[in-house]
Amino acid sequence: MEHAEPDPLRARPRRLLVTGAGGQVGTALQAAFADEEVVALTREEWDVALPPPAGLPAVDLVLHAAGWTNVDAAEEDPQGAAAVNVGGTQHVAELGAPLVHFSTDYVFDGRKRTPYVESDGPSPLSAYGRTKLASEAAAGEDAWIVRTSWLFGETGNNFVRTILRLAAERDELSVVDDQRGCPTYVGHLAAAVRELVELPRGVWHLAAEGDCTWAELAETIVAEAGLDCRVRRITSGELGRPALRPAYSVLRSERPGAPTLPPWRDGLRACLEKLG
Ligand SMILES: NC(=O)c1ccc[n+]([C@@H]2O[C@H](COP(=O)([O-])OP(=O)(O)OC[C@H]3O[C@@H](n4cnc5c(N)ncnc54)[C@H](OP(=O)(O)O)[C@@H]3O)[C@@H](O)[C@H]2O)c1
Repeated sequence: MEHAEPDPLRARPRRLLVTGAGGQVGTALQAAFADEEVVALTREEWDVALPPPAGLPAVDLVLHAAGWTNVDAAEEDPQGAAAVNVGGTQHVAELGAPLVHFSTDYVFDGRKRTPYVESDGPSPLSAYGRTKLASEAAAGEDAWIVRTSWLFGETGNNFVRTILRLAAERDELSVVDDQRGCPTYVGHLAAAVRELVELPRGVWHLAAEGDCTWAELAETIVAEAGLDCRVRRITSGELGRPALRPAYSVLRSERPGAPTLPPWRDGLRACLEKLG
């Protein structure tokens, strides 16, 4: 696919390609860029572990939202995760168009107790985090690398939807209280990405204002939704998931003019409103 050359004589709307269009970020990006021409490809339409399908039109910008996001499953199948996250990003970068690539707070080991900024050195604890760090290199230096965290939205598998479902069924939920991060609403992230593509490329940290633990987030979801369910605070050790997660992965940007996102509680309320 060739990079679409700007035509100085005839202004036409920007044409964007969204990969992973069926995921929560892909869905939010399509909504945020709805006034532009969007070619949205789900996994069925382009499995990014494979080269691009024939006949892709030239595009002005690629928003690469496809990815292996199952953190625990990546421990069992790191090569499968790498094929999607690293190989897939390489295929997308080879399109040659300006690229926005999504990475994660899990590239950090969580030993800090002040927010991680772009110049902090990554040191992932998990196979997923290692594939995402390698994916940043695969995207190339000329991409916008968006590190974000703890995403939730109206669609897909995410913590907010899981807690809403379980809290409606049970009297008590056990939730870990020793991991601290920035729960980020995908609608707010997608709006920030619109601002970001007017800024210089490179690594950018984009996450909601404020921070909390998963248990604090669960308590807030239950309270905001008016559900009657107790949250029991447990440790990551008690939960015993296969992949290690950082104990602290609050993200902030140190770059001038960085887009700011609303506080995570506002994101949660916006999401709950949409869920009705
Ligand atoms: N979720 C988070 O908390 C979080 C935090 C930080 C960064 N990120 C990053 O943000 C990006 C988007 O994540 P998300 O939250 O939107 O995850 P998501 O809801 O799981 O969406 C990922 C999408 O990628 C698709 N996909 C998986 N393998 C693919 C492949 N080989 N080819 C094409 N598409 C494929 C998935 O399709 P299927 O549903 O069919 O598998 C899904 O539609 C990812 O790069 C992720 O690493 C996520």
